[in-house]
Amino acid sequence: MDDRILSVEQLNEDIKDLEIRPSKIDEYIGQDEVKDNLSVFIEAAKMRGEALDHVLLYGPPGLGKTTLAYIIANELGTNIKTASGPSIEKAGDLAAVLSTLEPGDVLFIDEIHRIPRFVEEILYSAMEDYVLDIVVGNDSSSRNIRIELPPFTLVGATTRAGDLSSPLRDRFGIVCKLNYYNIEDLTKIIKRTSNVLDSPINDAAAISLASRSRGTPRIANRLFKRVRDFALVKGDGIIDDEIIDMALSKLKVDGLGLDETDHNLLRAIIEKFNGGPVGIEAIAASIGEEQTTIEDVYEPYLLQMGFLKRTNRGRVVTNKAYEHLGIERGE
Ligand SMILES: Nc1ncnc2c1ncn2[C@@H]1O[C@H](COP(=O)(O)OP(=O)(O)OP(=O)(O)O)[C@@H](O)[C@H]1O
Ligand SMILES: [Mg+2]
Repeated sequence: MDDRILSVEQLNEDIKDLEIRPSKIDEYIGQDEVKDNLSVFIEAAKMRGEALDHVLLYGPPGLGKTTLAYIIANELGTNIKTASGPSIEKAGDLAAVLSTLEPGDVLFIDEIHRIPRFVEEILYSAMEDYVLDIVVGNDSSSRNIRIELPPFTLVGATTRAGDLSSPLRDRFGIVCKLNYYNIEDLTKIIKRTSNVLDSPINDAAAISLASRSRGTPRIANRLFKRVRDFALVKGDGIIDDEIIDMALSKLKVDGLGLDETDHNLLRAIIEKFNGGPVGIEAIAASIGEEQTTIEDVYEPYLLQMGFLKRTNRGRVVTNKAYEHLGIERGE
């Protein structure tokens, strides 16, 4: 796992984030369309006294899928049981979590695309008919048994919707795609975190921090915490523009949220490959990073910001990136 400050992955310290994680739908900032629709479906399920239809949440890491799963259970007023794709290796693992469910409960399965296919098939009838069909016993004396389940809501989360099999995807009645957040929403998230943690930040500073958060609440909150440390130790506790600039230059995060590795990557393509097009393998070799790390961690934001383009001949650095780095384009 990479542990850079701008990592979109969940780091150990983030796990203590419970206090800054919103628990009601009204406190969840942005993603208005998802929120509006979900509110209606939740309300309707409650009015009918039925379990909410199964919900699939997908989108890049750190955008609030897990948060939303807990909010759904909270708004429904039900329990939430959790599991993750990689932890469900056998039919029995799935049966074990399913058998703990009470009527109306939410079962949250994170990284749902990683459930093995043969286990996934057991999930189909559980989702559709609330029954569990499993085989018990050994080869010579095996038999099928059917276990009735209470009505429940499966909330599945994935960063890779494309890796989900279509029979599984089709069994979700509600599918929500989370998008990168705009600066305005990230600013609100930062101000909310500032309130919850009781460490003041002024408006300009909040916007400046939001601009460097890569569209991702997890990064916004993490940067906020580091900047807050600088304000405490090097300033008077108040987070202003000056503190932000100092803190982020120490952390080597630039004005648009690019860090050293992003810079190295863009510079490598410019200096060694004349700006591209160049294949991802060659880039990986020249900066000493794994190809998959580049694809999953670095590239998405660079593509999103328009600093990098994917062509069928390889990656190309754009004029916008040359300008941002202050490099003249040769010949
Ligand atoms: N809409 C939001 N409003 C306020 N805070 C948010 C919002 N979305 C996410 N957060 C904050 O960002 C952090 C990361 O969110 P979360 O863990 O839910 O992301 P995730 O999509 O589940 O990521 P992963 O794919 O890595 O599991 C949370 O701790 C939460 O505090
Ligand atoms: Mg999560």
